[in-house]
Amino acid sequence: MKQKKLYLCILLLFFLVGCSQRTTEEIKKVPEIKIGLTAYRRDDTFINMIISNIQEEGKEAEQQKNMKVTMNIMDAKGSQTMQNEHIDKLIEQGCDVLCVNLVDRTVAATVIDKAKTANIPVIFFNREPVKEDLERWNKVYYVGAEASESGKLQGQIVVEQYYKNNTIDKNGDGKLQYVVLEGEQGHQDALLRTEYAIKTITEAGIQMDKLAGDTANWLRSQAETKMNQWLQLYDDKIELILCNNDDMALGAIDAYENIEKELPIIVGIDGTALAIEAMMQGKLTGTVKNDAEKQAELIFKLSYHLAMGEDVAKNMNLLREKYIFTKYSIVKLEEMTKEDGY
Ligand code: BGC
Ligand code: CA
Repeated sequence: MKQKKLYLCILLLFFLVGCSQRTTEEIKKVPEIKIGLTAYRRDDTFINMIISNIQEEGKEAEQQKNMKVTMNIMDAKGSQTMQNEHIDKLIEQGCDVLCVNLVDRTVAATVIDKAKTANIPVIFFNREPVKEDLERWNKVYYVGAEASESGKLQGQIVVEQYYKNNTIDKNGDGKLQYVVLEGEQGHQDALLRTEYAIKTITEAGIQMDKLAGDTANWLRSQAETKMNQWLQLYDDKIELILCNNDDMALGAIDAYENIEKELPIIVGIDGTALAIEAMMQGKLTGTVKNDAEKQAELIFKLSYHLAMGEDVAKNMNLLREKYIFTKYSIVKLEEMTKEDGY
């Protein structure tokens, strides 16, 4: 009997040791990924949407995949010099992948060379480097959307309004007098959005008459200032305001509201919460959704596979081995559900 007890005790001891070993092994096995991210401006509404969605993705992965996700997020506040310093810091601290929203999209080569020396893959997002730069190294990627597509869809909103509502051509001259609030000069989304919006509208048989156009650098406040000037110059002549993003559209609305003037047709791009609210209030005519959630999901997925040393091409749908583009879509209020948060 005594011998049997001793035997059972030894067995139990083996079992416990085995268990505790497994627990330490399991703890060791929890994978950790470190993401270093730098944004051209953290206070940019759309960039902020992407970043908070990436953070959400990280939290979800921690829960679902039993892993640890560390994210170091830096704000370059519009300075490329500061962003280069941030990149040095992130590399020094040892991250597995760098997510870069460039201040100046023409200087990607410097960033790529730094990352290559440290052998840390780079995912550029939202501000697209030129093809030649992206080809400098095979561990460089870009996640974004096709600017021309958003321009086309924005143009379609105007075309639909024009044929539905014949009061748009206020002076009845058969032409649409318009102004354009442009994004930052040199940004792929600025020039192309304007170009394709105009092209779509004119190809639908509508004559366009440009009164003015200028950059407001994506910003609501600058757009309001610009619009105040144009209102003094053109006043009631303005029949349409094309805006390269929603924040600038909201700035244009501010200018009209300050002087309690009736709003013309105003269209934006992004589909931010405030823009959708303005649509619901009948202030903003329409907007095109720039899919921040999807872009964030793809940036995170790509970061995950790169950090885990997995074959990216096998796990993700890459275009020309480097690019991932999300689709734009026209925001339709009647299709919004409670899950969209509105
Ligand atoms: C967005 C803008 C944003 C810009 C920043 C664009 O794609 O539509 O709202 O300010 O990216 O780079
Ligand atoms: Ca007209």
